[in-house]
Amino acid sequence: MSNIINGTEIAKIIKDEIKKDIENLQGKKPCLAVIILGNDDASHIYVNNKNKACDYVGIKTDTYFLDDSISEVELLSLIEELNDDTSVNGILVQLPLPKHINEKNILFKINPLKDVDGFHPYNIGLLSTNSATLKSCTPSGCMEILKRYNVEIKGKNALVIGRSNIVGKPISMMLLNEDATVTTAHTKTKDLEYLTKQADIIIVAIGVANFLKPHMVKEGVILIDVGINRFDGKLCGDIDFSCSNKASLITPVPGGVGPMTITMLMKNCLIAYKIQNNINIEEN
Ligand code: GUN
Repeated sequence: MSNIINGTEIAKIIKDEIKKDIENLQGKKPCLAVIILGNDDASHIYVNNKNKACDYVGIKTDTYFLDDSISEVELLSLIEELNDDTSVNGILVQLPLPKHINEKNILFKINPLKDVDGFHPYNIGLLSTNSATLKSCTPSGCMEILKRYNVEIKGKNALVIGRSNIVGKPISMMLLNEDATVTTAHTKTKDLEYLTKQADIIIVAIGVANFLKPHMVKEGVILIDVGINRFDGKLCGDIDFSCSNKASLITPVPGGVGPMTITMLMKNCLIAYKIQNNINIEEN
């Protein structure tokens, strides 16, 4: 069997599971409200991909294309409206936001039960006590990859490189919740190479092209690459792909973690719908 993880294939399998689950809601559809400010190309591509995935699985989308001159107060008041609208199950504000808007104020305003990004402190707090239902999408996608490839996490040395609120911190908590011995490394970490050589599982989420090199890792390591960078005009991750000669499993870029993020967003929309409609959610 190849040691290269096929994220596109796993994403498709999960999307088909979600689609089937939604078909069983007897004609009802979860609804996701997406708010996007301004004309940033990358943000519009993301939102377009989200909308396509929603269409595929049967989630209704309401997209609010707003001018980036909108005030923070106006944006907060739109979120309040969506919080109160019982026909809306999930709210997503596309990041980054323009400089005059305080990102925290916006993200913290979203009703935690509709927080399909899993960014609200309430949901982060639940994650830290291993009781979260809405977990942030990219880290959940990484965990789902490990699960679907039958990777035993319990007792393993897991190293997370990067400590962002969106990926590094939540994935460190998720791995700890699965009984790994977790180390979170960052720019101030001393002797990173010592840590990388001890690790059984390494997740890299720092946004530095080809950062992790083969001489830094041990034979048989499992490598998960969250980075998406452009280098010499080509897409590449944070892990030098020649590490695939030493890894027992490795995610490619593109086609690894990337396709899982939107898929986990679809899953969160369905979970949010179920929570709001008192439908039992299975172990997730
Ligand atoms: N911008 C880039 N990725 C994301 C994401 O996962 N969620 C939101 N809300 N904005 C993003």
